[in-house]
Amino acid sequence: MSQAFINTFQQLYAAQPEGLSSAPGRVNLIGEFTDYNLGYVFPAALNFRTQVLFRARTDQQMVVHSQNYPGESDRFSLQDPITPGPSQWGNYIRAMVYVLQQAGFTLTGADLLIDSDVPQGAGLSSSAALEVAIGGAFNQLSGLALTPAQIALFGQQAENQFMNCQCGIMDQMISAQATAGHALLLDCATLATRAVAIPPELALVIVNSNYPRKLVDSEYNGRRQDCEQAAAIMGVSTLRDASMDLLQQHQNAMTAQQYKRAHHVISENARVLATVDALQQSDMTQLRLLMQASHQSLRDDFEVTVPATDGLVEICQTALGSKGAVRMTGGGFGGAIICLCAQQDVVLVEQAVAAHYQARFGLKADVYVCQAGAGLTVQTFAA
Ligand code: GLA
Repeated sequence: MSQAFINTFQQLYAAQPEGLSSAPGRVNLIGEFTDYNLGYVFPAALNFRTQVLFRARTDQQMVVHSQNYPGESDRFSLQDPITPGPSQWGNYIRAMVYVLQQAGFTLTGADLLIDSDVPQGAGLSSSAALEVAIGGAFNQLSGLALTPAQIALFGQQAENQFMNCQCGIMDQMISAQATAGHALLLDCATLATRAVAIPPELALVIVNSNYPRKLVDSEYNGRRQDCEQAAAIMGVSTLRDASMDLLQQHQNAMTAQQYKRAHHVISENARVLATVDALQQSDMTQLRLLMQASHQSLRDDFEVTVPATDGLVEICQTALGSKGAVRMTGGGFGGAIICLCAQQDVVLVEQAVAAHYQARFGLKADVYVCQAGAGLTVQTFAA
C-alpha cells in the first residue's frame, strides 16, 4: 500500500484511516460454469488486488471514493432503504450493505477509499474482489465476526440479489480464501476446499483479449437457466448429480441446447479433478489435453467463447506447442485466456500475441504474468 493512498484518504476525510482491507481478483485454471451447478472449480487468486481504506463514522452515513474513478463518489444513509445509486461501482458497496442488513446485521457508517489494480472487464473478477474487500472492511468496522467463507457468500448474494447477476460462488470464495502459491479445489456443493501447490517453475500467463463484452449478464443468466432445466428433465436437483449415462438416457426429452449445456458441465467436472492430479504431477501433456478439451467444450457446447478468444487460444497454443496448456478463463463472451507454461517460455506467448493477435482481430491484447496470491487480508492501524 502506498503512502499516496493514505494521503488521499486524509485529504478526502480529514482523518486517518483505521484499517485496510484487501482482496484479490482471480484466474480460473479449470472448472467453468460448474459452480452454480454445484460442481468443482479450480481457481487461483491473482497478485492484483482491490484495497479499501476504512474508518468508522458516527452519523449512519456510508461515504465512498475510488482512486480508479476520481471525481465520482457515492454517499447514502444506512437508515434509508438501500436502492441502486448513480455510480456503477458504488452499487457494489450498496449491494453488500443491502445483503448484510437483510441478514439482520447492524452496520456502522464508514468513510471508504478504494484502489484496485485488478483489470476490469477482463473476466478476472474485479467485482468479487471489491465485494470481498468491502465485506472485510464491514466485518472489522461493525464487529460482525464473519468467517472468510461467510463474507464470500454475502458477496455472491450481493450479485444475485442486488446486481442482477446469477453467478455462482467461485469468484468470491477464492478471493476470500486463497493461499499464496496455491490454486484452490473447491467443491461448490459442500464448500470444502483443498489448496494445491502450483509448481514454482510454472507461470500463470493471462492474456486479456480486450474484446468488448456485451449483454454478458443476460447471456450468463440464460446459460444458468438452461442448466437448471436440463437437471430438472433428468430428475436431479443439480447437474452435479448427473452422469453422462443419465444425460444420454434423457437426450430425446431435451432441446439440443439444453443437452449441450449439460454435456459441458458434466464433462467439465471430471476435467477439474483430473487437472488437480495433473498439476500435482507437473504433467504438462495431461494439463494441455484437459485445458484444450475444456476450451472446446466452452466453445462448442456452452457457446461462451468469441472468435477473439478462440483465436488467442490458438495463437498461444501454437506458440507453446507441447510446452504449455491454454484455454479461455472466467465468464466468457470475451475476457481473458490463461496459459500455463514454464517461466522461460512466457516470452513465446508474448512474441506470438504481439505478432498475430492485433493483425487478425484489430484489438490489442494485454499480457499479465502472475503469481498465485493470497486471499482476503484485513489489518488495523495503531491509533
Ligand atoms: C463468472 C461467475 C462465476 C462462474 C464463472 C464461470 O466469473 O461470477 O460464478 O460461474 O463466471 O465459471
